[in-house]
Amino acid sequence: MTDNREKALQYAKENKEKFLNELKEIVRIPSISTESENKADMIRTAEWLTEKLTALGMEHVKIFPTERHPIVYADWLHAADAPTVLIYGHYDVQPADPLELWETPPFQPSQRGDSLHARGASDMKGQVVATLKAIESIVKSDALPVNVKFMIEGEEEIGSPNLLGFMQSHKELLAADFCLNPDAGMLGKELPSITYALRGNAYFEIWLYGPDHDLHSGLFGGAIRNPANTMMDLISGMKDADGHITLPGFYDKVRALDDEERAQLARLPMKDDFFLSQTGSSALWGEKGYTPVEHVGARPTLDVNGMLAGFTGEGAKTVLPAKSMAKISMRLVPDQTPGEVYEQLVQYMEENMPAGVRYEINVEYGANPSISERDGIGVRAMAEAMRQVWDVEPLFKREGGSIPVVGEMQKVLGIDSVLTGFGLPDDRIHSPNEKQDLPTWYRGIDALIHFFYNLG
Ligand code: BES
Ligand code: MN
Repeated sequence: MTDNREKALQYAKENKEKFLNELKEIVRIPSISTESENKADMIRTAEWLTEKLTALGMEHVKIFPTERHPIVYADWLHAADAPTVLIYGHYDVQPADPLELWETPPFQPSQRGDSLHARGASDMKGQVVATLKAIESIVKSDALPVNVKFMIEGEEEIGSPNLLGFMQSHKELLAADFCLNPDAGMLGKELPSITYALRGNAYFEIWLYGPDHDLHSGLFGGAIRNPANTMMDLISGMKDADGHITLPGFYDKVRALDDEERAQLARLPMKDDFFLSQTGSSALWGEKGYTPVEHVGARPTLDVNGMLAGFTGEGAKTVLPAKSMAKISMRLVPDQTPGEVYEQLVQYMEENMPAGVRYEINVEYGANPSISERDGIGVRAMAEAMRQVWDVEPLFKREGGSIPVVGEMQKVLGIDSVLTGFGLPDDRIHSPNEKQDLPTWYRGIDALIHFFYNLG
């Protein structure tokens, strides 16, 4: 181990409090990408990042505006003969609602025990700051042993609508040997992990329209189609009793798992008890013939994320709603595409819509699934870094979540991603009371320091 590596680790150890304060600073900014009223917060967060990157000696620090939220770029390219790592991050977060379920306000970081609670603490401002602090620890005592480029977007949580175009028009700027993407978490405090597969996501809003105004459910009930009932009929028809999705052709492009990979997945510490305890559900349920780790990692699904119809206030109101709405996400696996499942959804609706109701489908976004290398210089440097910090072999996992950039980068930039992160399964990402486990966060910073040295 070089002296400078030790110096960098020492710097990280001495600056824990400062690092944490910076994480607290960035989680205070409510950078909710889906809410137009947070537009100024998005810009503030991008500016916060450019200030930090500049202070680290990064060059070509720039905010690239997009149609919606800006992309932050920076680089440092003076490590001759060393690899170039493109570091990906997103500075946007999901909405914080329902607000009343937060023990402390989502954008006022609250330290309780080993956890820092705030929206974005884990997904993924914590991971972005961990990366910045690893770089800081190195540059304060040494020259960086690798070349780095940063691309930090503000639209991941809304499906990265403008990132593909940005990458297509900046291929040279973004050219790198591989991408470090710390947005994929780990399986437990003592279970550092590298993710090699992500599901895609196709998100739709379905509207049904029936009578031309809300009706008295007694005067007219039984004589017309109720769009709320019709929505339920249609949605329940999208899955059969065995949990298979019935959209025409839905499984045509689904890659089957081979026996070897099924055996590997079965060895992960993701058995029924893991899913029961993480979810708080009283029973598991999923597509027949597959285990839960396979359900979330390697099988597609279709879920209602929200519904709206008729009277939902206190007490009773007798009404036949004129319209109904459902938000539906389909998690996709290779080689499904959002465009194809959209066609399948339309075909299903055409074949199953009863007379008296019409439909509209709004496409919210589509993200492709991806599978990444389990070997290569980046994966090896990360696996070694994890051994150095945790003293165990990292786990290789598939993830059910989506990170649109990963598949797009493979296509546009021709590079693969090392997917990892220092968030835990019980961090409640996207939910009230999101937190980041701080001991794990500090170990993550150390692991990233090792990672950069291992590459150099
Ligand atoms: N970081 C998550 C995805 C994730 C979580 C991957 C845990 C692996 C482990 C990411 O920020 C996310 O939530 N993505 C969205 C993407 C969608 C909006 C296209 C998702 O999966 O819902
Ligand atoms: Mn997320």
